[in-house]
Order: sequence, then structure tokens, then C-alpha cells
Amino acid sequence: MTGRAFLFLPALLAWAAPAAAADAPALLPRPAHIAVQAGRFDLTAATPLVAAADDGGARNAALRLAEWMAAAGRPLQAPVPRADGPAIRFARTPGLAAEGYRLRIDADGATVSASDDSGLLYGAVTLWQLAGTPGPLPYMTIEDAPRFGWRGVMLDSARHFQSPAFVKHLIDWMAANKLNRLHWHLVDDQGWRIEIRKYPELTGISAWRSPAVAPGAPPLPPTGGFYSQPEIRDIVAYAGARGIVIIPEIEMPGHATAAIRAYPALGMGVPLPEGVWSDWGVFPWLYNSDDATFAFLQDVLDEVMALFPSPWIHLGGDEATKEQWKADPATQARIRALGLADENALQGWFMARIGNYLAGHGRRMIGWDEILEGGVPADAVVMSWRGVDGAVTAARAGHDAILSAAPTLYFDHRQGTGPDEPPGRGAPVTLADVYAFDLAPAALTPDQHRHIMGVQGNLWTEHVRTEARAAWMLFPRAAAVAEIGWSPAGGKDYADFLSRLKPQLARMAPLGLKAADSAFADAPPLAPLARTSRQLESCTGGILLDLEDDYPAQGPRAHFLTDILNPCWIWRGAPLAGAGRISLSVGQIPFNFQIGVDLDKIRFRPPATPDGEFEVRAGGCKGRRIAVLPLAPARDNPGLTRLEAAVAPTRARRTDLCITYTARGVSPMWALDAVALEPR
Ligand code: ACM
Repeated sequence: MTGRAFLFLPALLAWAAPAAAADAPALLPRPAHIAVQAGRFDLTAATPLVAAADDGGARNAALRLAEWMAAAGRPLQAPVPRADGPAIRFARTPGLAAEGYRLRIDADGATVSASDDSGLLYGAVTLWQLAGTPGPLPYMTIEDAPRFGWRGVMLDSARHFQSPAFVKHLIDWMAANKLNRLHWHLVDDQGWRIEIRKYPELTGISAWRSPAVAPGAPPLPPTGGFYSQPEIRDIVAYAGARGIVIIPEIEMPGHATAAIRAYPALGMGVPLPEGVWSDWGVFPWLYNSDDATFAFLQDVLDEVMALFPSPWIHLGGDEATKEQWKADPATQARIRALGLADENALQGWFMARIGNYLAGHGRRMIGWDEILEGGVPADAVVMSWRGVDGAVTAARAGHDAILSAAPTLYFDHRQGTGPDEPPGRGAPVTLADVYAFDLAPAALTPDQHRHIMGVQGNLWTEHVRTEARAAWMLFPRAAAVAEIGWSPAGGKDYADFLSRLKPQLARMAPLGLKAADSAFADAPPLAPLARTSRQLESCTGGILLDLEDDYPAQGPRAHFLTDILNPCWIWRGAPLAGAGRISLSVGQIPFNFQIGVDLDKIRFRPPATPDGEFEVRAGGCKGRRIAVLPLAPARDNPGLTRLEAAVAPTRARRTDLCITYTARGVSPMWALDAVALEPR
């Protein structure tokens, strides 16, 4: 170290003081450098808002600040090109990092400088976070820039459709947290959500479906919708003004059932059974590899590229099971004619053909990490979802990668076990889990780590039926994604994050959505003699889901935590001493899962009565059967049924109760809502 650098060191240390310092303002994400100084500036409704008339980025940042301040009840002046004296000013300063900004608050007012439009906008976001509540602002200087360029959220609008208004609210919330990539999952097996003018049946046929119900249950109203091209243009522009690039995802070669339903010639001719599009899981219907199918996909992508200026287009590529390709003579002939080794190589060829088409139009393809299995263009971006392994493999092979690893970054998981959590994947992913996610996997060398573009949280919506639930599942976990994607790697402190999150959520509330409060809720107390399914353990936890009842169509519905591969619940240490009777509240739900060969692994004990029985065993699932509850009273009830039975006496005071049911098959699927013991 030279003497000169040494002399500067104390000043640098002052700059590097973390925002966690006692008097630091509660900003989220935590800025890179902040220094609070003596003095205060009183920002009022009369403070001029200044942005040069010929600087669109500065004007946009000023307008956004005014918009968010107005939502907080603190309106500002309309922007003017210049003003004397203290003011809020947006100015260009060449040389600051991409998306970075400097915010200085002093006797001249508040000055945001940045070299690019995003930086100016993020300066406005920080100022809004500081000024949203009344009171003079401490003098300070913030020097800030993101750790990663990709700070994303994925919204699945295919499984359940969200309104354009919701998508705009989500964009506002993302901007408030300096998130900058909205990956929009617009097509999947269960729905096609983007208007394509050349192929109107995509939305004409596949934008709506009837939700699955258990056999004999009353039908539920159709669900669905799609985004018209004008709506998409409007949303893309809205996002752009808030620093957010929308990356559309058009899935191929799998997750193609909605397209094949609309245009059967795109598939292998395997018929689609009635109602199958209301299933969840991995469907076997794939696009065929005819030239006409590529012409279709290119036509679709032409319209997609015209709507979305994003440099990236996501092509899916995940979970394409190859049975239909294996069984299809034309596909096999294609594989031979191309001299390819197998179906995986055909997928690689398929993705590369479309990837090259995008490249010819100046766009880069993104694919889920399966695209690594068949060979892809060198500039393809890999989205790692099966843990971080995909990113590690991708980076080692020289591909750029985005970390969106299941389960931690999969926001369809419940975020706790409390009674307020909506349905979703059963295993909880807490806010703390997301915050702790490591964006520098140890398996990567520093050189390879340069390929990590950033991080993304994904909201899949199979089990997220309403917009209120989507908002709840997304935030505040997406705020944790924002923080780990933006803030410097060192100095993670969950308690500090939570202390800044509370005021952040209060600031976000007027922007139109309601976030989850699970992270601040007390642990739910347990009743001494009763449990809900969500307070029980799953016997095996194979595919653990918290599934909503299919009844009633309107109003609250029960939901059940169950392992669909083995519906079996454990009440650990149940207080059996003195229990004379046991009651179960049970419901029947559709078995609407495409799980391939796993279906054959689901086993039930044979029933003793025509409708089957719930059975309760003491001492675990291999223990003695102490109660049998026939399902006949529940057979014709689409809602919850209370079953009750005597409990055979046991000597155990506390024991593990194992609750299962007998059945001849998976449908209907019975689910436990709650269990209670009653004294003798
Ligand atoms: C995925 O979850 N199939 C990307």
C-alpha cells in the first residue's frame, strides 16, 4: 500500500459505514455507502422539483418521485427545468456505475446524480424512501450501485391469470425495491395468456379452462383471461418508466399443451383427454419438430419481439419429458435425418434453432437449466432452478447464469406454518431463508462467478388462485431478493434487514397491494387436544402441498396440507390418556396431477366398506389401529364432513398418531382438515 492511499484511508472508512449504524435511515435495499452529516433540510410541498427539459430520464425520475410522494400523502411541485435556491435536482454525472447514483442532501436541497436513467430513478426511489414520512431530512451523502444487474421476479400468469392492474401494482412494488427484471411466464400447459394476432385460437381456445373438481362435486366457474397486445404495450411502457425490463417466456418444446390444444398439428397427434388442462405437473405433450412448427414458433416470436423490447427472450426448455418424441415415428425420422444421438440432442437442436432465430433479431435466449443437457448456443443465458448446480455447470461452460433456485427462491412455497398462510407448496420457505440465500456458491471460482448475472424469485401460481394471495406470496420475500441482489456481499444482518423492512412495507402499502406479515407474526399457539392438517407432520413428505378445497365456488374454502404421493399425517405425541373419541374433519379434492410413472407408486390399503375409511393408528404408522372412521357420510358432500369414532383404549399417555385412509385409487383424493380428541 502506498503512503498516499494510507492517508486517504480514514475518509474511506467513513464512507463505508454500513447503513446499520444507529442513526442511519431505514433504506431498503441497504445502500453501498452512506454518510450522515450534521444539518437538516426541510423538504416541503413548496420545494421545487428540477429536471432538464431535454433529459427524458431525469424528467421520468422526477415524475416518479412526485407520483410516489403523492401516494404517501406528500405531494410535490410539477417538475421545472431550473430553479434557484434549495430544490430537488436530477442531474447527469458521467462515470458513475451502471444503475448507480449519488444522492446528496445538504443546504442546496436534494441532488440525485447518475450516469444512466436507471441510476436517476434509483436516486428517486431512495429519496422517496427517505422523504415519505414528514420531518426534515438529515444532511447525507449516499453513493450506491447494485451488486448484480439482474434482480428479478417471475410471475406465472399461465396457471392463474392476474389482471393488468395487478401486474402494474407489482411493477410499482418492484420499483420501490429497486428490482429491475420481471420475467413473465405467459404460456404453459394450462393457459396461453398473450394475444397472438396470427394465431387467434391460442387465446380463443386456451385462455380459459374449467378448474378441476372431485368426482360428483359441483363445477366451478371457468377461470382465465389473456393480455391483449395494447394491454401488453401499456404494461411494458409502465415497467420501462420504472426501470424494469419485462422478459416474456414462451415455453418450448414442453409445457406446450395449451398451444397444442389450440392447434393440434403442433403436437404428435396424441389426443388430449377432456379436462386434462386443469391438471398440474409435468405434461407429456411436446411440440413436434416439423418445419411448420418452427414457422409457427417464429411467427409467435415475431409478435412477441414487437411487443417486448427486452434484450432477452425466455424460451423455457424445462421438464420436456420425451415419451411422445420416443413414440413418434416422424420425430424418430427427424432425429436420424439430423444425425442426432437421441431425444435430448433433438431438444438441444430445437432450442438452438429458435435461439439462433432470436440472435438474428438481436435478442438473446434464456432457458431453464435443462437446456444444458442438449447443447445450446454459447450466448444462451441459463436460469438455474434445480438448485444452483445449473448455474455452476453453466458458468464452468462459459454461459451466463441467473440464480433462481428451488426451493429457496420458489415463492409458491408457504412462508410459514401459521393459519394465515394461503395454499402453496407445503414445505415453508421463510423470509429468513430467502435473505440467507448465498449468491456466491462456493463451487464457483471468482472467474466463473463473473457469469452470475444475478438472482430471481419465482412465483408459480398453480396453487395461487387470487391476486391477494399472489401479493402475499411475493412480498416481502421479493424485498429480500432485492436486498441480496443489490447490497454489498458483506454485512448481512437479518435483524437489521427486518428493522428496515417494516417501514419499507408501510411505504409500499399505499401503492396498492398487501404483503405477508408472517415474518412479524407470533408463532401460532397449539390447542391441547386438536390439530389442523398444517400442524401435523406428513408421514413421508414426497410431494407436500397445501391444497385448497374445490368447494364452495364463492366464499372461504378449506385447505389441506397433504403429500399427494402418500396422504398420511402424524400427530407427534398426541395426548391419548383419557381420550374416548376422535373426530376428523375431512374433505375430498380432485387428483389433478400429471406425475407420470409416480402415479403407480401411490398405494392405499384396501377398503373394508364401499366408500373406504379413515384409519388412526397409535405408536406410528406400523402401530395398532385404534379407530376406524367410514367415509360413507362424506361421499356426497363436496365440503367438509365431520367423522367421529370411539378410540380403542391404549396404555400410552402420549403417542404418535398416524392417520391414513383406505381407497381403491387416487380419485377422489381425501384430505384431512383437522383432528380432535375428546375425553372419555
Ligand atoms: C421449473 O420450475 N420447471 C422451471
